[in-house]
Amino acid sequence: MVATDKAFTGSVPQVYERLLVPLIFAPYARDLAARIAQVGPRRLLETAAGTGVVTRACAAQLPADVAITATDLNEPMLAVAKAALPDPRIEWRQADALALPFDDASFDVVACQFGAMFFPDRVKGYAEARRVLAPGGRLLFNVWDRIEENEFPDTVSQALAQVFPHDPPRFMARTPHGYHDRDLIRSDLQRAGFTDIAVEAVDHVSRAPSPREPAVAFCQGTPMRSEIEARGAPGLEAATDMAEQALAQRFGGGAIEGRIRALVVSATAPQ
Ligand SMILES: C[S@@+](CC[C@H](N)C(=O)[O-])C[C@H]1O[C@@H](n2cnc3c(N)ncnc32)[C@H](O)[C@@H]1O
Repeated sequence: MVATDKAFTGSVPQVYERLLVPLIFAPYARDLAARIAQVGPRRLLETAAGTGVVTRACAAQLPADVAITATDLNEPMLAVAKAALPDPRIEWRQADALALPFDDASFDVVACQFGAMFFPDRVKGYAEARRVLAPGGRLLFNVWDRIEENEFPDTVSQALAQVFPHDPPRFMARTPHGYHDRDLIRSDLQRAGFTDIAVEAVDHVSRAPSPREPAVAFCQGTPMRSEIEARGAPGLEAATDMAEQALAQRFGGGAIEGRIRALVVSATAPQ
């Protein structure tokens, strides 16, 4: 991971919330919230909450007396989340998942949607989740499977490799789709002290009204935006147009669909 990979700042949070959340994050947020509801926590901590898609799903699916604390490294992401969910029972707080500002054993569940890939030290991030979990508490999170199993970002990445053949922007494969080795995930969790580890592949279909939305979503609503901008000519708009053309060529010019796959992980803190 390079330093800018975790920079969800500038105009990224707005594009992310408007285009990327409905495209790829919303179905997994419903899935994760349902798994959290099954555990039945009284105190829930969410890390890497981003613009709050899981927080909103939890607010809708969990009983009203569940205390929800939602955190993220980047305040601009949380600002979008807070504006979309002005619910007094949510405590929003800027926090690095590797150094949580909470006491030991403060939560029954720690949840994290598509955040672990951005942790510079995953064992440390998991150990921090374990520290703030009560004995027997549950860590629930998801990560993307390899980029080839996720058709829209794969197509966009391939198109950008044509635009910048000497120095392709590799953000998507390197970071969001760079942590999918089931054995590594299990061993990282074991090293952090977790037991009862389960890893499950969950498939969904990504739908967009046209190839334009995914092109803008991936090129302009992720940290890949700064990677493209840093390469100069032909520029962000032209690169987005090339990604749109590649999506149209593979999936058609009207409403389009693509396969997406994530790994959903559950682990238990020791008693
Ligand atoms: C792909 S987004 C996922 C956001 C949200 N969970 C969702 O499903 O839309 C990754 C998020 O991880 C956050 N992040 C990156 N590094 C982090 C860290 N060390 N601690 C907490 N959050 C982090 C980013 O700010 C970003 O909001």
